[in-house]
Amino acid sequence: MKFVFMMMIYVVMMFDAKAQNFEIEAKKLATDLKSSLMKNLSQKIASEGAVKAIPFCHTNVGPIAKSAADERMSKFEFGRTSHKLRNEKNQAMPWANSYLKDFQGKFKGDIKKDFIIHKLENGKRVYLEPLYVQAQCLTCHGENLNKSVKMELNKFYPNDQATDFKLNEFRGFIWIKEK
Ligand code: HEC
Repeated sequence: MKFVFMMMIYVVMMFDAKAQNFEIEAKKLATDLKSSLMKNLSQKIASEGAVKAIPFCHTNVGPIAKSAADERMSKFEFGRTSHKLRNEKNQAMPWANSYLKDFQGKFKGDIKKDFIIHKLENGKRVYLEPLYVQAQCLTCHGENLNKSVKMELNKFYPNDQATDFKLNEFRGFIWIKEK
């Protein structure tokens, strides 16, 4: 009896450790992805301006993210999504929809959650981290876009919905999913 009880505690502890590991690993990956994307984007904007950074973003977001994720690519899938999309390829998975509804129109601090762990029906977990609009995002996602930025965006994204955001407004999620 005592043995069974000890085993149960052990299983619960292992389960808990596994849950925490995923949280830590996913959070680290999200941070690496964000900083790598931002570093590359800021460098491009600084050297060639926002207009030139748009096609750069269009073709390089995937490869930059993949190289930042390195060997973790074999364990996780990841991406970005939003309630107001620029690239339709970033369309939300069904499991993200209710979270997008909760967060849309909210501002940093309105919802006291830095991240969400969602469990899928097949037992795999997804980590979702809200992204908020920072000053440097406004150039391409804000209310008063420069005319040439607007024209360049229209070229690549004729159905662009990802504008008119305000500072600190919820922009979307970065998500990390167990494979
Ligand atoms: C130089 C212009 C530019 C800047 C600055 C910029 N973005 Fe974007 N953003 C884009 C482009 C272009 C895309 C579409 C990328 C693609 O094709 O996947 C995009 C896509 C996204 C997406 C994916 C969802 C969607 O709408 O397709 C998110 C989330 C996002 N941006 C958030 C941000 C945040 C947060 C910042 C500031 C930290 C930021 N962006 C700064 C141009 C920009």
